[in-house]
Amino acid sequence: MKKKKLAVLISGGGSNLQAIIDCCKQPDYPAEIVCVISNKASAYGLERAKNAGIETVVIDHKQYHDRAAFDQAMHERIVAYGAELVCLAGFMRLITPWFIEQWHNRLINIHPSLLPSFKGLHGPRQALEAGVTIAGCTVHFVREAMDDGPIIIQAAVPVLPDDTEESLAARILVEEHRIYPAAIAMIAGGELVIDGDRISRYKH
Ligand code: GAR
Repeated sequence: MKKKKLAVLISGGGSNLQAIIDCCKQPDYPAEIVCVISNKASAYGLERAKNAGIETVVIDHKQYHDRAAFDQAMHERIVAYGAELVCLAGFMRLITPWFIEQWHNRLINIHPSLLPSFKGLHGPRQALEAGVTIAGCTVHFVREAMDDGPIIIQAAVPVLPDDTEESLAARILVEEHRIYPAAIAMIAGGELVIDGDRISRYKH
C-alpha cells in the first residue's frame, strides 16, 4: 500500500500528534508521518515524535522578520520531506494566504468546537460561556478565513452542568484523537470529493 506522506505542525503538547503516530503504527493505516515541525523548541510533541523515530524540525517564528518569511521556510522544509498532506495539530500560528494557496486542499486543521461556532482561541471556554449543551470538535480543510473551510468530520460531546473549561476540553480531546486519524484516512483513501467550500461526496 502506498502511504500518504504527512507533515504534522505543532506548537505544544502534541496529544493529537500522538493519536496520529499511534494509528500510523498499524500496517493497514494509509498514511505515515515524514516530519513533525514545531515553531516552539519546548513543545512536548517534539519528544513524542522523537520517541517514535520521526524526524523533527524547529522553525522558531521569532527568528523571522514576518509571517511570509516564516511560512516560506516551513513550506520549503515540508516540500523537502516530500509531504503530500499538511496536518495542523495544535499549531497556534496564523498562516498566510500564500501558504494556504500552496497547500490548497492538502492542508487540514483540528479545532475544538463544532464549527462554524466558536472560532479562534478557547473553543471550550466559548462553548461554556454561550451556554450550549452540546460541544465538540471539527477536522476541516484550511481556507483563508480562520477556522473555516470544508468540514471533513465532526464529533459532538455533551456539556455537563458542572463542567469547567478543563473538564469540557478533556472530553472534547478524546474525540479529537478519534476523528483526526479518521479524517486523514479518508483523505489518504481518496474518499472525499471537495466541491469549493464543501465536501460534496463521500465515496465508499
Ligand atoms: C487541541 O485541542 C486542538 O484542537 C487545539 O489545540 C489543542 C492542541 O492539543 N487547536 C486549536 O485550538 C486551533 N485553533 P494537542 O497539542 O495536545 O494536540
